[in-house]
Amino acid sequence: MKVADRTFPVSEDLWARARRLIPAGTQTLSKGPDQFVRGVTPKYLKRGSGSHVWDVDGNEYIDYPMALGPILLGYDYGPVNEAVIRQIKDGTTFTLMHPLEVEVAELLTSVIPCAEMVRFAKNGADVTSAAVKVARASTGREHIAYCGYHGCQDWYAVTTPRNKGIPAVLKDLMHQFEYNKIDTLEKVFAENPGKIAGVIMEVPGSDPEVDPATGLNFLQRVRDVAHRNGAVFILDEIVTGFRYSIGGAQKYYDVTPDLAAFGKGMANGFAISAIVGKKEFMKELDEVFFSMTYSGDTVGLAATKATINEILTKPVIEHIWEFGARLHSEVNAYASRLGVDFKIFGKPPRGGLMIKNARGEDDLILKSLFLQETVKRGILYGGPVFISFSHSAEDIKKTVEASCEAIEVLKKASESADPATFLEGEPVGVVFRQRN
Ligand SMILES: Cc1ncc(COP(=O)(O)O)c(C=O)c1O
Repeated sequence: MKVADRTFPVSEDLWARARRLIPAGTQTLSKGPDQFVRGVTPKYLKRGSGSHVWDVDGNEYIDYPMALGPILLGYDYGPVNEAVIRQIKDGTTFTLMHPLEVEVAELLTSVIPCAEMVRFAKNGADVTSAAVKVARASTGREHIAYCGYHGCQDWYAVTTPRNKGIPAVLKDLMHQFEYNKIDTLEKVFAENPGKIAGVIMEVPGSDPEVDPATGLNFLQRVRDVAHRNGAVFILDEIVTGFRYSIGGAQKYYDVTPDLAAFGKGMANGFAISAIVGKKEFMKELDEVFFSMTYSGDTVGLAATKATINEILTKPVIEHIWEFGARLHSEVNAYASRLGVDFKIFGKPPRGGLMIKNARGEDDLILKSLFLQETVKRGILYGGPVFISFSHSAEDIKKTVEASCEAIEVLKKASESADPATFLEGEPVGVVFRQRN
């Protein structure tokens, strides 16, 4: 495959200006330059069409982070954009409520198993935080058991290394448990009797294990342990929603949470999120303070309605599963034939890159090398590997070809005295969002 000679003068100029004006340089940490190989990757994208994006210097790529997940159908996707443009002409936000609030709430309750009532917001963190507040309000307890990533709000961010500016006392309320290890959740309850208000978790790349004794999967067991202890079970579906199935991971894995948080994926890149759940818990939002200027923004609502209509009437979910499976299996088979410890892990609609060194450790130099060799071949990989409805058979073929060539470079580098000498730019930094 041809390795293009790409240059980034416009990107670099923008970045120089951003560093003077914008703390951290970026609005979203996972989109910042240190998550990519500096020197060989553009820093700014300005246009997208289907599964392809163009950087500010005019170079074209097949995209896999897909804006970190929201672009489920594709960039510049006709039916969603047309619905949004029609809505913009009528008005984006008003002095009173808008009918779409009711219509889209009805739509969500018709496709998401746990959704009896709905409230909207803008980011994932808005609604995971609302869910935690509701759990606390309905139980009169304050502590939370958590598993995975849930956004930048204080209650969760206090548990991360980026906890500057957050009262340390909040950390005492948070208790981590591990995916597929039910004893770690049972321990949290045993050590904090009568204190845990809610259990919040996301479903990471791998399947929940099934307990041979009961036939219940991990998510069902978490629900049962939470309920046995009087806690609210919250499923964070920010990533899995509208991706694993139209009803999210809860439908796919047959578990009905008390509350669930949706965001990315529901509006094909327009800003909207939703907390949904059982009426007995959602009713708490009659009194819990959850009110923002743009919660009923009609653009996000119109985009959600059009996106769900596409998922209901076209084989969107089937496509992302099938094309994701093809990408994972062909690239992984080549890596294992070459004896390189490389894997696109996870479920077909939601993957990630795992690259280990000879000591079996995650290796940022080798990961950087893979990102470098693929971006030079026109494939923009990053942390997550998301397939959209617009990724074509030709896209997957080109991506497999480029990935296999990059894996050959990984092999050469791993066998050399110093793999870092193969890098043409600065390696990626530590990924903020932990894999679990
Ligand atoms: C599982 C999960 N929950 C919550 C969030 C927070 O969403 P947002 O960044 O839209 O606030 C994310 C974001 O990546 C996520 O992956």
